[in-house]
Amino acid sequence: MSNNAQLTAKSLFNVEDWVCVVSGGGTGIGLMITQAYANNGARVYILGRREDVLKKTAETYGAGLANPRGKIIPVVCDITDKTSLEQAVQTVRQNEDHVDVLVNNSGVTKGESEFTKGDRDVTALARELWSEEQSDWEDVYRTNVIGHFFTAVAFLPLLAETAKSQAGHTGCVINVTSVAGITSDSLGHISYNISKGAAIQLSTTLAQEFRRQAVRVRVNNIAPGYFPTEMLTQESDEHNKSRIADPDFGRKFGIPAGRAGGDKDMAQAALLLACNEYAYGETLIIDGGFLLEHPYRREQQSMVKKAYTYTFHTPIPTHAGEEEISYTRAAAEEHTTLLKAQSRSSRKRRPRTGSAGIVIAYERRREVQ
Ligand SMILES: NC(=O)c1ccc[n+]([C@@H]2O[C@H](COP(=O)([O-])OP(=O)(O)OC[C@H]3O[C@@H](n4cnc5c(N)ncnc54)[C@H](OP(=O)(O)O)[C@@H]3O)[C@@H](O)[C@H]2O)c1
Repeated sequence: MSNNAQLTAKSLFNVEDWVCVVSGGGTGIGLMITQAYANNGARVYILGRREDVLKKTAETYGAGLANPRGKIIPVVCDITDKTSLEQAVQTVRQNEDHVDVLVNNSGVTKGESEFTKGDRDVTALARELWSEEQSDWEDVYRTNVIGHFFTAVAFLPLLAETAKSQAGHTGCVINVTSVAGITSDSLGHISYNISKGAAIQLSTTLAQEFRRQAVRVRVNNIAPGYFPTEMLTQESDEHNKSRIADPDFGRKFGIPAGRAGGDKDMAQAALLLACNEYAYGETLIIDGGFLLEHPYRREQQSMVKKAYTYTFHTPIPTHAGEEEISYTRAAAEEHTTLLKAQSRSSRKRRPRTGSAGIVIAYERRREVQ
């Protein structure tokens, strides 16, 4: 007997009648994920602080869903407030006896610094960084990390009910983190990046702790690159959608795909992690290749130096403007040989290849302090 029918896209990514909770589901990436689940027949509870925004999303996108069993239900909730979270759980409980998917998507960013001032003047850089507000750091961490933790805990009993009541099916948490939590480039918003690094660590820690027998909740995270949202463009239209008008956006921000991410890119990622019951503790990077062009930590690299990889002749964006860093082919080969040698002792050290297939290791040799 063939299992062909189980392997259609419709069957593999079937979330019909699932119960999903998406924090920040009224706008941006949360809205993209909400649409992905609701159009495939899930009841999606969207959390956020602005009631009018949530209602607008439920009215606009809840009507005419591709799968009529889908629903979008607004729930006013501030994820930084435990009482508000308890009330949101109570609201969901009135209608549902379990939750299949919780997407911890709510997030904020505050404060910016021009690190490029350090190219010329340490005093100017120190002054710039000193002007960052401690309260901004606390606000960002409160939402992006602490909020994600307490939202996961608040919904944990309902998430655990999924595995108890349905054999072979587990509830899951998907945290929306960011490539900002992976790259070592501050991108000008260091407090945000550090919070996202912590959010990735939160995901893997919860994945480890929630796999326990009495819990059996999977935890994964999606690390997006640039997507058009209120966070990025500071606004959205009357349908709660944001746009990036600049056709040169992809090149300016170092994105090999040549564009910002779109609704479909995010929807596919959200369906994958919701439905793949074999994904545990993963970080799914959906960034159009952004991390191929930006430095990131490589813990497995040598203890005395870090290697950052860039594709051949890739312009490295800086906040002061773009600066073309070119290498001779001989230098390229030398560095590639070095990284290949390193990769032999650990598969994880393998350098990332760019679209041209040529890898350049741009090494910033730094002594470990
Ligand atoms: N856009 C990007 O390029 C990008 C890239 C990587 C990662 N991300 C991440 O994607 C996630 C979604 O952000 P976005 O880009 O889609 O921006 P966005 O449109 O501003 O969405 C953020 C959402 O979070 C909600 N929110 C903020 N604070 C909240 C709180 N205390 N309680 C409940 N909800 C709260 C907001 O709704 P209310 O204001 O109504 O509460 C809003 O709907 C964030 O975690 C962000 O860090 C974005």
